Amino acid sequence: MGLCGICLRLVVVVEMLLLMAANAAPPPPQLAQAKPGCPTTCGGLQIVYPFGTKRGCYLNKAFLITCNYTYYPPKPFLRQSTTVVVTNISLEEGRLQVQSLVSKDCYHKNGTKRESTVTSLTLGELTFSDTQNKFTVIGCDSYGRITGEIGSKHYSKGCISECNYKDDATDGDCSGSGCCQIDIPKGLNGIEVSASSFNNHSNVWQFNPCTYAFVIEDSQFRFGSSNLSNTSESVPTAIDWSITGQGNCDKAKNNASYACNKNALRYQPPANNSADGYLCKCDHSYHGNPYLPNGCQDFDECDKGNHTCVKQAHCINTPGNYTCECFKGYKGDGRKEGQGCIPNQLQATQIVIGVSLGFVMLLVGSSLFFFMFKKRRLIKLKEKFFQQNGGFLLQQQLSKRTGASDTAKIFSEEELKKATNNFDEKRIIGRGGYGTVYKGFLTDNNPVAIKKSKIVDQSQIEQFINEVTVLSQINHRNVVKLLGCCLETEVPLLVYEYVTNGTLFDHIHNKDEKPTIPWETRLRIAAETAGVLSYLHSSAATPIIHRDVKSTNILLDDDFTAKVSDFGASKLVPIDEAQLSTMVQGTLGYLDPEYLHTSQLTEKSDVYSFGVVVVELMTGKKVLSFDRPEEERSMVMYFLFSLNAGRLFEILDNGIVNDDNREQTREVGELARRCLRVKGEERP
Ligand SMILES: *[C@@H]1O[C@H](CO)[C@@H](O)[C@H](O)[C@H]1NC(C)=O
Ligand SMILES: *[C@@H]1O[C@H](CO)[C@@H](O)[C@H](O)[C@H]1NC(C)=O
Ligand SMILES: *[C@@H]1O[C@H](CO)[C@@H](O)[C@H](O)[C@H]1NC(C)=O
Ligand SMILES: *[C@@H]1O[C@H](CO)[C@@H](O)[C@H](O)[C@H]1NC(C)=O
Ligand SMILES: *[C@@H]1O[C@H](CO)[C@@H](O)[C@H](O)[C@H]1NC(C)=O
Ligand SMILES: *[C@@H]1O[C@H](CO)[C@@H](O)[C@H](O)[C@H]1NC(C)=O
Ligand SMILES: *[C@@H]1O[C@H](CO)[C@@H](O)[C@H](O)[C@H]1NC(C)=O
Ligand SMILES: *[C@@H]1O[C@H](CO)[C@@H](O)[C@H](O)[C@H]1NC(C)=O
Ligand SMILES: *[C@@H]1O[C@H](CO)[C@@H](O)[C@H](O)[C@H]1NC(C)=O
Ligand SMILES: *[C@@H]1O[C@H](CO)[C@@H](O)[C@H](O)[C@H]1NC(C)=O
Repeated sequence: MGLCGICLRLVVVVEMLLLMAANAAPPPPQLAQAKPGCPTTCGGLQIVYPFGTKRGCYLNKAFLITCNYTYYPPKPFLRQSTTVVVTNISLEEGRLQVQSLVSKDCYHKNGTKRESTVTSLTLGELTFSDTQNKFTVIGCDSYGRITGEIGSKHYSKGCISECNYKDDATDGDCSGSGCCQIDIPKGLNGIEVSASSFNNHSNVWQFNPCTYAFVIEDSQFRFGSSNLSNTSESVPTAIDWSITGQGNCDKAKNNASYACNKNALRYQPPANNSADGYLCKCDHSYHGNPYLPNGCQDFDECDKGNHTCVKQAHCINTPGNYTCECFKGYKGDGRKEGQGCIPNQLQATQIVIGVSLGFVMLLVGSSLFFFMFKKRRLIKLKEKFFQQNGGFLLQQQLSKRTGASDTAKIFSEEELKKATNNFDEKRIIGRGGYGTVYKGFLTDNNPVAIKKSKIVDQSQIEQFINEVTVLSQINHRNVVKLLGCCLETEVPLLVYEYVTNGTLFDHIHNKDEKPTIPWETRLRIAAETAGVLSYLHSSAATPIIHRDVKSTNILLDDDFTAKVSDFGASKLVPIDEAQLSTMVQGTLGYLDPEYLHTSQLTEKSDVYSFGVVVVELMTGKKVLSFDRPEEERSMVMYFLFSLNAGRLFEILDNGIVNDDNREQTREVGELARRCLRVKGEERP
């Protein structure tokens, strides 16, 4: 039997962990900004509605951004311009930042003209910001002119700058010696800028062969004498925009083409915006893009800590506001400005019950005495487990560190029993080869996930302790945070932060119950997972190999932010060893065939498993299924087969490909293929 035969058999027997190491930093989750179905970026610019790059994606022609894909990365141009690049869009201030060309007038040493350019820029309904921009001329034998239109009136102004020696120009000083600046008027929406020289720069040519003239955002400019010999080709310019054509605020209300959407308010642009219409912003307690239908989303004050509930109250988010509900046993208005929550008064019946209970307690108390010594035995047992589970070792390790508040906490068995209602069956949220996971609430009412593991192998204890200390210090937004552990029980209990939205596996495979995850989100989940693996492999203090990367170990929170979990099988890699010999362990379908075959564990095994997860994300199909025709049983094999046959699009999950992301899906498919290479060293 050849190597292939062995591989194939091995693949069928077990598969392993995944992993991957792209350097993509996870982008922060964001509310939709572009119109749905429209491109969200062009080059480095995030496109925000009312701006858009395609017909149907912008509010009206004034908000067109032409994305030219012949450049790499693509360049976003203002309207139909081919030279003015948009670099920033601000919704709050109604402002754009663009890079506009500098006009110059340059001479040879013998006095003949070398180059002379005049630039013009027409903005239509947009206007140059008069508060942010200045018309600027640089040179020592120079003048510049700016001409334009304000409404139907012609406007023109000039600025002269002279000097005889380079030292005449002072850094930061723009008052006519080497540099000259003037304000521009309000309402300019088209300009022409020219640069000229009085004497062909003949007396100053050595240090200033050119005159430069441009409109620049003042905050972005500080004159330096080096600008005399060399000024950049383009400069940042601020442009004001607003929704026009419907008059100002008051007139626009009740107009069907009114641009502000539900839960949004229109408002007059700030005084430093010279545009002549109105802007929109989300109502108090909503956030998002007010120009998009349903763009203003409720702001979760509770989640973001923007509430004034007192300590004894739950904060409950409501559309447009929140309420503070007192805990059981308290009543009142839970807001700080209100009277707060006060304890319920004892009712008469409660007092009676209390008194009789007290009496009974007295009787019981004496019997308790007899049980005391039994309890002592229990305490002894707990101590034994604590020791057996490496508790002292862990305590020692933790005490060695300063700032211990950030590291794992040791919980008592009592605390965790209370948190899970004595390990109530109803609290079970997951079960697996590793053990059982319960949902619990700590005394501060924070939800946590408590994992009761199965490992009791004595020889693994030290390793386990090491993992707990290391894991407790991983502070990565896409890794489920380990809050602490409990060692008093026979098997150690681990306490994690509670992640609200279930596993990626559930979302991909239980489609009937959950909406399909859009492609962008899938891509982000993959990038976040890759970021974690990269972090584990290279940035964590001691490299860690996860060993069980799979969709059931990727949890999602409400924003679909990925949280990688289950480090039960993970290995710490001593810095001086690139690979480890271990017992093969992992999950069928995700297991790296090379590792399976050599037992040599490297980071690349995680990369393989990551590749499998990417395949799952793209196809929406389970990794192994014996319900499918024989050739489709292993999704990975079928995926690679389809990819090679050029049929990638036929096996992708419904509704994720569209005209805009075809190229992207192809690239991601290619990446998955690289992660799934049989030879570890060929994987990314
Ligand atoms: C994109 O830029 C290239 C090079 O400047 C130009 O030839 C082409 O016409 C531009 N395409 C569009 C759609 O503007
Ligand atoms: C865009 O401008 C805003 C301020 O108006 C600033 O906070 C933000 O960082 C800028 N974004 C970029 C990409 O420059
Ligand atoms: C001036 O110099 C430039 C290059 O240095 C040359 O091309 C040009 O012909 C010269 N003109 C005269 C009038 O000498
Ligand atoms: C230089 O400028 C003078 C005017 O100051 C002009 O008479 C002369 O023709 C110019 N020289 C050249 C070479 O253009
Ligand atoms: C002017 O010179 C400064 C350095 O002194 C430089 O940072 C700046 O980019 C230059 N400005 C332009 C418009 O070239
Ligand atoms: C002028 O400055 C630009 C950057 O602003 C630089 O790339 C270029 O090399 C400079 N040219 C000269 C002649 O110093
Ligand atoms: C509504 O706005 C449009 C322009 O978008 C304008 O032509 C129309 O007159 C406005 N209607 C009212 C009632 O103001
Ligand atoms: C414009 O004015 C608003 C309020 O009037 C202010 O908050 C904002 O900082 C100003 N923007 C700039 C760039 O000065
Ligand atoms: C939330 O609180 C921050 C400061 O803590 C404040 O700047 C922000 O405006 C608040 N947001 C809302 C929607 O109340
Ligand atoms: C939110 O509700 C409280 C009363 O529960 C009220 O006092 C407050 O004004 C409300 N805030 C908003 C923005 O509606």
